[in-house]
Amino acid sequence: MEPIRNKTKQLAKEFIDKGDPFGWFERLYDDANGDEKAVPWADMTVNLNLAEWLERERIRGEGNRAIVVGCGLGDDAEALAQLGFEVTAFDISPTAIAWCQTRFPDSTVSYQVADLFETPMTWQGGFDFVLESYTLQAMPKEVRDRAVPKVAALVKTNGSLLIICRGRSANELAETVPFPLTREELNAFQANGLDEVEFEDYFETGTSARRFRVTYRRS
Ligand SMILES: C[S@@+](CC[C@H](N)C(=O)[O-])C[C@H]1O[C@@H](n2cnc3c(N)ncnc32)[C@H](O)[C@@H]1O
Repeated sequence: MEPIRNKTKQLAKEFIDKGDPFGWFERLYDDANGDEKAVPWADMTVNLNLAEWLERERIRGEGNRAIVVGCGLGDDAEALAQLGFEVTAFDISPTAIAWCQTRFPDSTVSYQVADLFETPMTWQGGFDFVLESYTLQAMPKEVRDRAVPKVAALVKTNGSLLIICRGRSANELAETVPFPLTREELNAFQANGLDEVEFEDYFETGTSARRFRVTYRRS
């Protein structure tokens, strides 16, 4: 996996340095040519941090609307659909979305190509549950700062947002993708109308990766 991760960091840097912080995603998926091993975040199963949380919180969809931001190859969206949510899952990469549709031909998930910065008006305040995992951390700080209000805006009144990301302390550097987030910058969700319900800071089981898993609610 290491060569793929290094190649990904290099590709991301190349695009970010030329002022195109999103172009590398489509390039990476397209270059992968259907081989998930070329996509470093593609576990081809639900994110363990999400699965644990869904089970612990006894989450049930009950027909509520959920949206997955930057859905990648779709496993987390499928997990939410299995729990009974009506799921929309979007990604900026057309190749990723086509890949989801090929992987899950009978899915109830509505997979859509969309840019977080230009989501349809009808999505604003439209979702009972919003999931963002590993997408903010793939954006450089200045882009992330602009992305936070866009994610927050999707949450309906009484709806929830779950963020899963790499975490770091404010005095640690974040120079390459993935850029771990700080607790301080996540506070921006509160400035965008959400209440923090729970902030978990832990090391993922079996890895040295520090994670933040944060739940917010719009009251
Ligand atoms: C690091 S990957 C994580 C994918 C998925 N959430 C997962 O955990 O496997 C980040 C994803 O966000 C997507 N993405 C990046 N910028 C985006 C944007 N502005 N709008 C929508 N999707 C975006 C990328 O194409 C990529 O699939």
